[in-house]
Amino acid sequence: RAEVVINGSSSPAVVDRSNEGFKRNIQPASAKWRHNQTLSLRIRKQILKFLDAEKDISVLKGTLKPGDIIHYIFDRDSTMNVSQNLYELLPRTSPLKNKHFGTCAIVGNSGVLLNSGCGQEIDTHSFVIRCNLAPVQEYARDVGLKTDLVTMNPSVIQRAFEDLVNATWREKLLQRLHSLNGSILWIPAFMARGGKERVEWVNELILKHRVNAETTSQSKRKKFHMNACKILYLGSKQLYRYWLTNKVHIKRPTTGLLMYTLATRFCNQIYLYGFWPFPLDQNQNPVKYHYYDSLKYGYTSQAGPHTMPLEFKALKSLHEQGALKLTVGQCD
Ligand code: CTP
Repeated sequence: RAEVVINGSSSPAVVDRSNEGFKRNIQPASAKWRHNQTLSLRIRKQILKFLDAEKDISVLKGTLKPGDIIHYIFDRDSTMNVSQNLYELLPRTSPLKNKHFGTCAIVGNSGVLLNSGCGQEIDTHSFVIRCNLAPVQEYARDVGLKTDLVTMNPSVIQRAFEDLVNATWREKLLQRLHSLNGSILWIPAFMARGGKERVEWVNELILKHRVNAETTSQSKRKKFHMNACKILYLGSKQLYRYWLTNKVHIKRPTTGLLMYTLATRFCNQIYLYGFWPFPLDQNQNPVKYHYYDSLKYGYTSQAGPHTMPLEFKALKSLHEQGALKLTVGQCD
């Protein structure tokens, strides 16, 4: 039985890699759930021993300079050079410095969100985190619209924007970035090798666009916020260590889990939606891997970088203890 040890005790870790046995019996959104403030605070304190999301959520200007060499967190032998463009886009101060929110939503990308009607509820939270530039407009009823922070793995550029092969795809990405309207774009640029060019393309697009926008009469409306792009460097290895210490033998934390870990720092109550790495729902109906595309479940297989079902088990345990609220059914 795999388990989450919240209080850091040293009970032995047992790895359960099967998808069975822990996917059922999540209470629907309307069922009684009580926030456990004491536990939430204890978890925040524990995570703080590993990293402080307020500052570690992004590399800051001043901590490095153009030309510096960085080793990828998960591919230590591979390196990248900090480009001038990347440096330009680094924030001077953390966007989450001194920020505290009553309730936060973290929206995963599972198809379990379809027909959930959770959009309105999600939008009521003070801070809404989304993953991998997932589309919202067409799915607003189920996923909401509010976005305060959105992540973008470099691979999204390939998967959802055809590696920006032509002007049409570049325009599509620009439109999507515009629609963020000043919210935080979080790019894990230094996690794994292979995404370097894609990160550079995005940096270039943002900077070029900003320059162009400033020379047009619509500059105010179109201009990117200087800090629209926050790039993470520090912290992730530490996040990984946190979960290992807690006996959750994940291969590499997913974006969703990273977001939960970071959110414990600045959110009082944390609500998760769209976390369901299983092809069937609790009533045995098929569930799409993503609510918005046709990506298949093979992506979560043993060969993949993640162990999502194991993560889910950890999150479910935290839900049951009141540290977070997991919604996997319909909202009221
Ligand atoms: N997720 C989930 N169940 C799914 C799909 C996604 O629980 N069926 C959660 C995961 O925590 C995931 C997050 O939602 O990190 C965002 O989904 P996605 O964009 O698919 O992330 P991945 O690309 O699969 O994973 P990552 O970005 O972490 O590499």
